[in-house]
Amino acid sequence: MLLDLAGTGAPAFLAPRQVLTGAGSAATAGAALRSWGVAPGRVLVVADRVVSEAGLLATVVGGLADAGFGVTVFDEVAGEPTDTVVARAAELARAHAVSAVAGVGGGSALDLAKAVALLATNTGGIADWVGVVEPPVPVAPLLLVPTTTGTGSEATRISMITIGGAKSILSCAQFVPLVAVLDADLVADLPAAVVASTGMDAIAHGVESMLSTTRTALTLAVATEAVAILTASLERAALDGDRAARGRVLYASHLSGLALNAGVVLGHSLAYVIARHAPMPHGTSCALALPYCLAYDRDVPEALAAHIARTVTAGESTRLRAAAERVDDLAQRLGLPRSLDAVGISADLLAQMAAETVRDFPRPTNPVPMATAPVHRLLTTMHRGSVDDAWELDLTPNPDPNPTSDGVAA
Ligand SMILES: NC(=O)c1ccc[n+]([C@@H]2O[C@H](COP(=O)([O-])OP(=O)(O)OC[C@H]3O[C@@H](n4cnc5c(N)ncnc54)[C@H](O)[C@@H]3O)[C@@H](O)[C@H]2O)c1
Repeated sequence: MLLDLAGTGAPAFLAPRQVLTGAGSAATAGAALRSWGVAPGRVLVVADRVVSEAGLLATVVGGLADAGFGVTVFDEVAGEPTDTVVARAAELARAHAVSAVAGVGGGSALDLAKAVALLATNTGGIADWVGVVEPPVPVAPLLLVPTTTGTGSEATRISMITIGGAKSILSCAQFVPLVAVLDADLVADLPAAVVASTGMDAIAHGVESMLSTTRTALTLAVATEAVAILTASLERAALDGDRAARGRVLYASHLSGLALNAGVVLGHSLAYVIARHAPMPHGTSCALALPYCLAYDRDVPEALAAHIARTVTAGESTRLRAAAERVDDLAQRLGLPRSLDAVGISADLLAQMAAETVRDFPRPTNPVPMATAPVHRLLTTMHRGSVDDAWELDLTPNPDPNPTSDGVAA
């Protein structure tokens, strides 16, 4: 029973007020906003440029207009959002005194929309709002429409913005939108590589949320369903372009987003640091890190380990190690890089990366405390791409007062 596997913390479980599902559902998003009492006025649509150029905004924009909203489009999202792009979009939102902000695109566009909704009604620039944010004025109502299959940002309180060159986390309960839309039509033509990498991000959300000490029965329930669907359908969705499988993966990535009520753990900390030194899609770095995160966290309670393993392996194994191998194999078949060496990271950087992981992205909810020396040893196995070696490592914090010059105990 999932209740028995819950962790020690019990964070509030937040979810969008309304979730529209099904092909074509984006057309009804405007009416949904109106039904929740959003004032008639102008909606700023914050959109990914590729999505805009592909004509994928038409259903959302048409639906907003049909519901009586004026629409202004800001479609300059190209890559992960920075403080500069936030400032430009926020200026537009303030100039139009918008009554709502809609995000249409991958996690980059949705996270930008959240930041803009905050600045639309509150003073200052985005650098004033890093960390846990409790704005004095409610953020503008949010409508979030994902067009990639992984971040689950349309379900979360998180916005990731690069501020002053550093990837920063904003966490605000009001970033969980009023309306989210899961419209499979919008992911039908997504490039296979984006389905693969964002789908692996969703698997990482599901698995890491299960490891988190703040998992609850609710987060475990949605994570379990999400990971089961993703491991069964992602390959077909990515490599065969199977439309039905893409719809399932989009739905599962939303469930994984809901699981983020428990947060992520070491895997995402490693992923951020990997991408800092070798820029790559977010999901690709998450896929690289996840098997090693499982190895580091091998000492979770046996019943939890068995539950995660059964979920990842479709009931074939109760061993966490088998789950890590299964994730690694899937990522390999999806064509994602499987070692730090393969993404061009030099072994000389590993000590620094271990220190950055622990210092810049600490995770008090990781079930095993994060310490620099064992994370460094873990990174050495990731460098050569050996999940087997990660499982053989001694990962106890190193008490040796005389480590070798690269920081790893002799
Ligand atoms: N807020 C959260 O809870 C949360 C969770 C996970 C990740 N994130 C953040 O989300 C960002 C990554 O988001 P992402 O992985 O979705 O990538 P992304 O939004 O950067 O999009 C990836 C690529 O796909 C293209 N694209 C998007 N939709 C398309 C479509 N339908 N057809 C064709 N091309 C399309 C984009 O132009 C882009 O090139 C990162 O900054 C990450 O940290 C946020």
